[in-house]
Amino acid sequence: SEVFRAHPVHLHDTNIEFESVRELPDSHAWPLVIDYPSEDMYDIEAVPIIDLMDPNATNLVGNACERWGVFQVTNHGIPIGLLEDVESEGRRLFQLPAQQKLKAARPPNGISGYGRARINAFFPKLMWSEGFTIVGSPVEDARQLWPQEYNTFWKRIKERSLKNESEGASAALQLNSYPPCPEPKRAMGLAAHTDSTLLTVLYQNSTSGLQVLKDGVRWVSVPPRSGTLVVNVGDLLHILSNGRFLSVLHRAVVHRTRHRLSLAYLYGPPSNIQIAPLSKLIDQKHPPLYHPVTWSEYLGRKAKHFNKALSTVRLCG
Ligand code: SIN
Ligand code: FE2
Repeated sequence: SEVFRAHPVHLHDTNIEFESVRELPDSHAWPLVIDYPSEDMYDIEAVPIIDLMDPNATNLVGNACERWGVFQVTNHGIPIGLLEDVESEGRRLFQLPAQQKLKAARPPNGISGYGRARINAFFPKLMWSEGFTIVGSPVEDARQLWPQEYNTFWKRIKERSLKNESEGASAALQLNSYPPCPEPKRAMGLAAHTDSTLLTVLYQNSTSGLQVLKDGVRWVSVPPRSGTLVVNVGDLLHILSNGRFLSVLHRAVVHRTRHRLSLAYLYGPPSNIQIAPLSKLIDQKHPPLYHPVTWSEYLGRKAKHFNKALSTVRLCG
């Protein structure tokens, strides 16, 4: 593992045009060699796959959250066709010329829009990916990019996944694109992080890339399976469960020839609600491990902590 100084990266810098790059630029070369867990590792230790129609599903989910902080679900009720539509629309979006995508660039302190993953700001090297975040209702920026089909596209997504907004929860959709990379072993699609949400639901297409850290020591790949969604615990659910559920550290690796796409649905509490360990989990033997925080307070603290830790950051590799 390497220790070195970080420098801030401006998120609204023009993204590089990945497709035209033949050699990994120094800005994107990480000082580590990414290990790909071999396929036969899947048999030894695999992220649990849970059929949500299983009468025992609740227990299985609970166990997975305690042991892994991540699981995959089948029979989730979201039509595969819808997921595939989102994927192909996403592909079209990322294939647009850079200049056009930049019309929807995320503003410096904003959340919605096109650009690098925000966690780039906390790492000294850039990641081999680009993303598009959509928060809440249709945004004008996105309308510009999806001129014709946008309305139908958005309506279908909204019917399905952002229903909870009406109940006050905050939710965002995050499309991630990982272009083919000339030197995948020295590049990082998305560096190791935990999600700050309650829960994240992820759809990954037929290309692998997601890895999760098991027991703090082993990176385990989460192979894509058709129609399956990956669910991971975020920091706030970790707090709510008084530390019983793990907020899993995860990252995305890239490929030499394959373009990978993923779609994350980030689900968090309403912004003004305080999240604290559930009282029924608290007793004399289990004192509360965390103070109550709102999501936005939590994000502020996480950023501060990150910045402090950055002067000597250890990259998980
Ligand atoms: C994420 O962590 O937000 C995305 C991971 C992935 O692309 O698999
Ligand atoms: Fe994530």
